[in-house]
Amino acid sequence: MALAAGRTAHAEARGAWRVRFADCRARSEALAAPLLPEDQVVQSMPDVSPTKWHLAHVTWFWETFLLAPYQGGYRVFDPAYNHLFNSYYEAVGSRHPRPARGLLSRPGVAEVVRYRAHVTASMERLIATADAATFATIAPLIELGLAHEEQHQELILMDIKHVFAQNPLQPAYKPGALKPARAAPALEWRNFAGGLVEIGDAGAGFAFDNERPRHKVWLEPFRLATRLVTNGEYLAFVADGGYRRPEFWLSDGWAAVNAGGWPAPLYWRQDGDRWFEFTLAGSAPLDPFAPVVHVSHYEADAFARWAGRRLPTEAEWETAAAGRPVDGNFLDSGILHPTAASTDRLTPTLTFPDCDAPHPYPPPRGGRVREGVNAGVSDPVAPALLQLFGDCWEWTQSAYAPYPGFRAPDGALGEYNGKFMSGQMVLKGGCAVTPAGHVRASYRNFFPPAARWCFGGIRLAEDG
Ligand SMILES: [Fe+2]
Repeated sequence: MALAAGRTAHAEARGAWRVRFADCRARSEALAAPLLPEDQVVQSMPDVSPTKWHLAHVTWFWETFLLAPYQGGYRVFDPAYNHLFNSYYEAVGSRHPRPARGLLSRPGVAEVVRYRAHVTASMERLIATADAATFATIAPLIELGLAHEEQHQELILMDIKHVFAQNPLQPAYKPGALKPARAAPALEWRNFAGGLVEIGDAGAGFAFDNERPRHKVWLEPFRLATRLVTNGEYLAFVADGGYRRPEFWLSDGWAAVNAGGWPAPLYWRQDGDRWFEFTLAGSAPLDPFAPVVHVSHYEADAFARWAGRRLPTEAEWETAAAGRPVDGNFLDSGILHPTAASTDRLTPTLTFPDCDAPHPYPPPRGGRVREGVNAGVSDPVAPALLQLFGDCWEWTQSAYAPYPGFRAPDGALGEYNGKFMSGQMVLKGGCAVTPAGHVRASYRNFFPPAARWCFGGIRLAEDG
């Protein structure tokens, strides 16, 4: 009887894994469904990969790290794909150059669809039939494969947005997805006492290796803005000559502004005195209350300096976010773009920021600041922190570096995160094209500081 019950529980566990796997695979295919085959082969810049490549690469990941080593008698779909669809794993062999992925007109989209079906069916067989010892070994790898495919689901949308933005027809990936503009609440500040805190993976569920080990960090008192910086606020920076005044910029940022001829965030376009923004729903009038998005770390940092503030550190951000529900405007909302913050606890304002004003922010310490909120201690009178999760990845001032005691795992999968800990900055919280459930407070995204296509936004911080 006990044995039968154990078998039933075992079967149910396998069933739950199969459902998660099938749902994840189906979501990737649903994201590609609105696209023409011609859309799926374009590479608009070296950082962008064609949709078809993403769909094949995540499939290669399952084949290489799960099926080949653990499914007895597995038939590799095409041995040539190891070269075509290996992204950066030196230990696995040679690779097609990343900037030339758009030259891979073969295999065609239909062949990649067949590749996916072959691997999906094989993985479902492996999940259903692996013996208990094998399954215990592969379960963490399945978890990693799911997280990996979710990362590429976000990349599919980031990248196709950049592809479509190059097209004078300004195609819409999802027409009508945007929500009507609504007022954003006034920006307030929330105080944190700082002190000795712990950050990093607490072991409650899946986490990437770069979130470990959990460790102690000393924080001085700090304040965080209660919401993201809006387009209207950022427009005031643009109108104040922000992109022409070197005093606001890091040296490398100023070089990037000039080398790239940046006049505004990546997808903004000015027509007379009106501004438009390219979105996954096509071109749209710039919504002054929606969060500014597609700024680089350099732009986020320059804006913060212009505003008399700074970007948060990753430890400050994580301390503020720890223990809060991970809900917000993610991929699953279907909007595919950041939306204005919303709360009925704060007073909305319909005032469009005055672009002629020299400085839209009051001095850091004034009557608007509420005192007395300690890190980790709930204060019913403190203003709510909005948009921590979803909407925009929030740039921090923290370099992407190993945590104390970090050790990359042995083998090829040790290359997943650790070898990129140079020249990149940490972003937190997920964005409007991140699958819901993919991120957590300890999640560390990272991009080079000049990256603009990655749905980066701004939350201001200041010393307490
Ligand atoms: Fe990948």
